[in-house]
Amino acid sequence: MTAVSRDNRPAIADLLAFYASAGVDEALEEEPLNRFAEAASKSPEPAPATVTPTTGENAALPRSTSLSRAGMGDRQAAAPAVRAPSGTVTVPDEQQAALARQLATTATSLDELRQHMAAFDGCNLKFTAKNLVFADGNPNAAVMLVGEAPGRDEDLEGLPFVGRSGRLLDQMLAAIGLDRTSAYIANVIPWRPPGNRTPTPHETEICRPFIERQIELVKPKVLVNLGGPSAKTLLNTTEGILRLRGNWRVHTTASGIAIPAMPTLHPAYLLRTPAHKKLAWRDFLEVKAKLRALG
Ligand code: URA
Repeated sequence: MTAVSRDNRPAIADLLAFYASAGVDEALEEEPLNRFAEAASKSPEPAPATVTPTTGENAALPRSTSLSRAGMGDRQAAAPAVRAPSGTVTVPDEQQAALARQLATTATSLDELRQHMAAFDGCNLKFTAKNLVFADGNPNAAVMLVGEAPGRDEDLEGLPFVGRSGRLLDQMLAAIGLDRTSAYIANVIPWRPPGNRTPTPHETEICRPFIERQIELVKPKVLVNLGGPSAKTLLNTTEGILRLRGNWRVHTTASGIAIPAMPTLHPAYLLRTPAHKKLAWRDFLEVKAKLRALG
């Protein structure tokens, strides 16, 4: 690494500020490494991923995933299995979305779903994230809350909503008599987008089958969509959250179960716009009343 002299300190400070704004908030090595190029040169498997079931332990899993890797920790997973002819690594989104659908459908329990997600290499967000952020709370709860994607704190802990917005969410839950023993919390996207950028539509489509299956397996009496991305993805609408919030909608699972869903404002938005907390309060009171009505 270059020696730091008094003269180049301002330039280094600028460079670090640039890295931080791009989401590079931790130094793992002395020099930057292109992990995608590295994986492309090592990968013995140039063929595109297929949805052909295999036999034995990994039966019904597509070739680009392996359950045996689920126990290795998410950081050690290899790069996407698909290599373009030029040698650059690409993830064909349609194929990966199909793969995600198959993996999600074949999961018969939340544990299995978590394993399938940990073994899935089809979403590039996985390779910049430290952890899979699957869920927190009680899977038997009557209410399930779904946010957008993990941030830095969530990525470090592997749990959703543990940072500043999570603390506000805990207060909002407490205001209607709930906590993480009586609510289940997850995100549409289970891997932190670098620098907390907005997930791309392709990334959302690839991850969508997983959260849909998670909802189906939890089968909550009530779903709460925290923020526009969660509402748009799971309620099949393009309407903005300020129009959607406060009105009951329905989330219909793949097997046809209709779950009442309340879109509301995201805690991170409420931290920036505290004047709107009263709107979220009304939405949460609706949720409380619905839970009471449904017994
Ligand atoms: N914002 C989200 O949408 N989800 C989290 O887990 C944290 C912040």
